[in-house]
Amino acid sequence: MALSLRHLLLLLPVLALVSLSTLFPSALSQSCSATNSLPFGNAISLYSNCLDLSTLGASLHYTYDPTNSTLSLSFVATPPSSSGWISWALNPNPDPAVAGMIGAQAVIAFKDGAGAVVTKTYNVSSYSSVTESPIAYETWDRTAEVAVGGIMRLSAKFKVGADAVAKGLNQVWQVGGSVVDGAPQMHELKDANKKAKGVLDVVSGTATSGGSGEGARTKRKNIHGILNAVSWGIMLPLGVIIARYLRTFPSADPAWFYLHVFCQFSAYVIGVAGWATGLKLGAESKGIVYYYHRNIGIVLFSVATLQIFALLLRPKKDHKYRFYWNIYHHSLGYAIVALGIVNVFKGINILQPDNKWKHGYIIAIAVLGGIAVLLELVTWAVVLRRKSGKATTKPYGHHNNGQARQPL
Ligand SMILES: *[C@@H]1O[C@H](CO)[C@@H](O)[C@H](O)[C@H]1NC(C)=O
Ligand SMILES: *[C@@H]1O[C@H](CO)[C@@H](O)[C@H](O)[C@H]1NC(C)=O
Repeated sequence: MALSLRHLLLLLPVLALVSLSTLFPSALSQSCSATNSLPFGNAISLYSNCLDLSTLGASLHYTYDPTNSTLSLSFVATPPSSSGWISWALNPNPDPAVAGMIGAQAVIAFKDGAGAVVTKTYNVSSYSSVTESPIAYETWDRTAEVAVGGIMRLSAKFKVGADAVAKGLNQVWQVGGSVVDGAPQMHELKDANKKAKGVLDVVSGTATSGGSGEGARTKRKNIHGILNAVSWGIMLPLGVIIARYLRTFPSADPAWFYLHVFCQFSAYVIGVAGWATGLKLGAESKGIVYYYHRNIGIVLFSVATLQIFALLLRPKKDHKYRFYWNIYHHSLGYAIVALGIVNVFKGINILQPDNKWKHGYIIAIAVLGGIAVLLELVTWAVVLRRKSGKATTKPYGHHNNGQARQPL
């Protein structure tokens, strides 16, 4: 009986982990700092999705309407000079590996001779020169504008096929420095220019980047962040709160114990998964080492593992060493929680996600802290009342485990 409960406790964290890792990547991808889009604030915020593209400091804001397979978008980027151009394109080539500039069905925005910002379509078939031409996609509502700092926005609606959407759209974007006689001139050939392409999945709201693999890496960093913030940063403190405060109430015995074990064990399993993703990220980024974050992470993993294995050595309740084991278990537990929270903040500073993630975590920790303070007061009130009750009236008898237990 006890054994099967234990098996269940072992299985649940694994399920939690699986559901977490499938849930979060798509939730995360909705986040977009798109700081370069600020000048266009209101118009831009109407789109339901936003992606910071992997190169050229560009971002894409879009809404996909599946009922008529229409993609409404605003592409925002800054050309290298005030007389330059920006471009966003779809490449219908079925092979994403070769769907680059050649074959791109592009909309290009630039200032014409009179200084007005225009958009034109280009069926790009050569690297050397592009000439205005019809493209394979129906486009409408094409507009463009320039904001302070030379930031440009190109907006358009594209009729894209539902099949193409299902496979993933090959997007190509670019910026160039000059326009001569109404013809955009060749862009630079830096790494950032060459990598400005990738597969856009408008349904899940994700974009890969061409060649560099940075998109996938960013995704892994985000998964690493989520796993660790949830486990070390939220579940472990929650588990401590459960253990410290629930057991004051005799009626919560032994439920608090199982809840505590469940919470901490799940946190440990998720945390180790997060830790492993961190090791992989660290191994991939030769030359960049975040010493504090890494070392705290290693200490955390070691100490938490020790904490788990020390459970096997836990003396029986009335054993004379149990008192010392408790002191050890509690102090290590508090140290883990403190280090975990510190390292989540270190990680947030490295990853630099959208502010809402940092604020969200601060709020979560503040709520947990507030609950802890409140329960601390309640606990002391209960403990003191019990003590004085015992002194003045008839003793309660020798029943509950939780009775008159003081918080350590
Ligand atoms: C598709 O739907 C969008 C949004 O509802 C609308 O703006 C657009 O005109 C529609 N396009 C077509 C081709 O019907
Ligand atoms: C674009 O150019 C290619 C190669 O010149 C040509 O085969 C294709 O039909 C053109 N597409 C459109 C929509 O004009």
